[in-house]
Amino acid sequence: MQAKTPSESKTVMTDLVLPGETNPLNNLFGGDLLARMDKAGSIAARRHSRRVVVTASVNHVSFNRSVPLGSVLTIEANVSRAFKSSMETVIDVWIEDRESGERTKANSAIYTFVAVDDTGKPIAVPPIQPETPLEQERFDAALRRKQLSLVLAGKMKPNEATELKAIFE
Ligand SMILES: CC(C)(COP(=O)(O)OP(=O)(O)OC[C@H]1O[C@@H](n2cnc3c(N)ncnc32)[C@H](O)[C@@H]1OP(=O)(O)O)[C@@H](O)C(=O)NCCC(=O)NCCS
Repeated sequence: MQAKTPSESKTVMTDLVLPGETNPLNNLFGGDLLARMDKAGSIAARRHSRRVVVTASVNHVSFNRSVPLGSVLTIEANVSRAFKSSMETVIDVWIEDRESGERTKANSAIYTFVAVDDTGKPIAVPPIQPETPLEQERFDAALRRKQLSLVLAGKMKPNEATELKAIFE
């Protein structure tokens, strides 16, 4: 299968934060943001694989800044690395200042999606060819994150996680 670049899967979703999506402090409810990031990440994984994809794991979420009611939220996602059937997606969330238009990064996350066939069985996806230094950095770190995710899910024995062991040796 021919390799694709991370930019080929780039997905940008811009939306408003409305009443009913917020907590008692009038900030966006965390679970709502998780769902929005899931949608953006799954579209990126779909664009990379051109397959049906399912969320296999939410590997990392960092809620650095609250998102107030009325915010214009932009979620950007792309596939950072593809393995056999799984794809790591990196998701960044930006808030736009109403007056200046200046963007501030509010959150970031890493989700893993798996491409599946009509019966829900994992199916192979194209590899990724990083183009920029940041894409290369994310590509290199993705295997460590995959192993950590599999260890935490009880799907890999810690002593088989060679990339993780290498950090501590
Ligand atoms: C994700 C799913 C397809 C994996 O199926 P499986 O039978 O475990 O298949 P495999 O063990 O062959 O794993 C398939 C790939 O997923 C990866 N994977 C599975 N669990 C993972 C996890 N927790 N973290 C990271 N990667 C994971 C495997 O490493 C493998 O990657 P590779 O093919 O690129 O090497 C299956 O568990 C599933 O359908 N889960 C439900 C998905 C879903 O409904 N999501 C929405 C929740 S509401």
